[in-house]
Amino acid sequence: MLAAAVKILATRRYPGPAFEELDEVEVLPLSALKEPREDVEGLIVANEPVPLDLLPRLRIIANFGVGYDRIDVAACAPGIVVTNTPGVLDDATADLTFALILAVRRQVVEADHLVRSGGWTGSWSEGALAEDVSGSTVGILGLGRIGSAVARRAKGFDLRVLYTSRRPVETDLGEFRELDALLSESDILTIHAPLTPETVGLVDARRLGLLRDGACLVNTSRGEIVDEQALVRELVSGRIRAGLDVFWHEPQVPPELLDLPNVVLTPHIGSATRQTREAMTRLAVDNLLAVERGEPPLTPVTS
Ligand code: DGY
Repeated sequence: MLAAAVKILATRRYPGPAFEELDEVEVLPLSALKEPREDVEGLIVANEPVPLDLLPRLRIIANFGVGYDRIDVAACAPGIVVTNTPGVLDDATADLTFALILAVRRQVVEADHLVRSGGWTGSWSEGALAEDVSGSTVGILGLGRIGSAVARRAKGFDLRVLYTSRRPVETDLGEFRELDALLSESDILTIHAPLTPETVGLVDARRLGLLRDGACLVNTSRGEIVDEQALVRELVSGRIRAGLDVFWHEPQVPPELLDLPNVVLTPHIGSATRQTREAMTRLAVDNLLAVERGEPPLTPVTS
């Protein structure tokens, strides 16, 4: 159980009313932490490395987000509980995934630029024609909560749904394929796996080469799952298209992508709606409060 006046460090002011329920909270970015802090027992952080040596009395790290790949969970055990925010961001992330699928396949951003630049002099169909979304095949890499939310949306768009995961699961959301077959059979590949040692660089140059000409790759998960340089080469060649919300070295984006018409770029906004971010704060705070009361956290991370 945490001490009576529990000191919480928050790396920023997290959105929503739940944040105000924390009594003893100090807002401080981790980069500003220079000296050991004996008074801090709880931390809210958005997937950043935590300097455990400077927080010797830490009891809980409440990660604001489902992905916690930058937190050394093994180093926290057994004394520090790590929690995350699964579930509450599935719909927002699946919605953004679909926004990117639609934007890339239907060339929405290019069309918008054409209109704004005064280049709409006749029919847009004089330009390169877009690709249908309905009736095409989507391959979902990772059929967890977010991947399943994407599959449900895909059904509504009359897409054929294939998926890969560590093993086939009993589901009517789609047909299982091994990863290589998924890549070669899909018009749209969308990535929903967590970043782990097994998934870093999983979609490498060879696998990118399996994508069909004109295929669309969407990534709202983690940039590191795709070999970024190989992806840049494929995009620069114009062979495939992409919708990317995540990158290896955020906030840096490979400069080669910035002028390409065949890629839509967003700044890691999968969960960035007011309702979803407030729900994430709610869950992170509820985890902190549960540990403060001596109760089990709601959504602990299992390492
Ligand atoms: C997550 O939850 O891991 C997202 O990437 C943060 O928005």
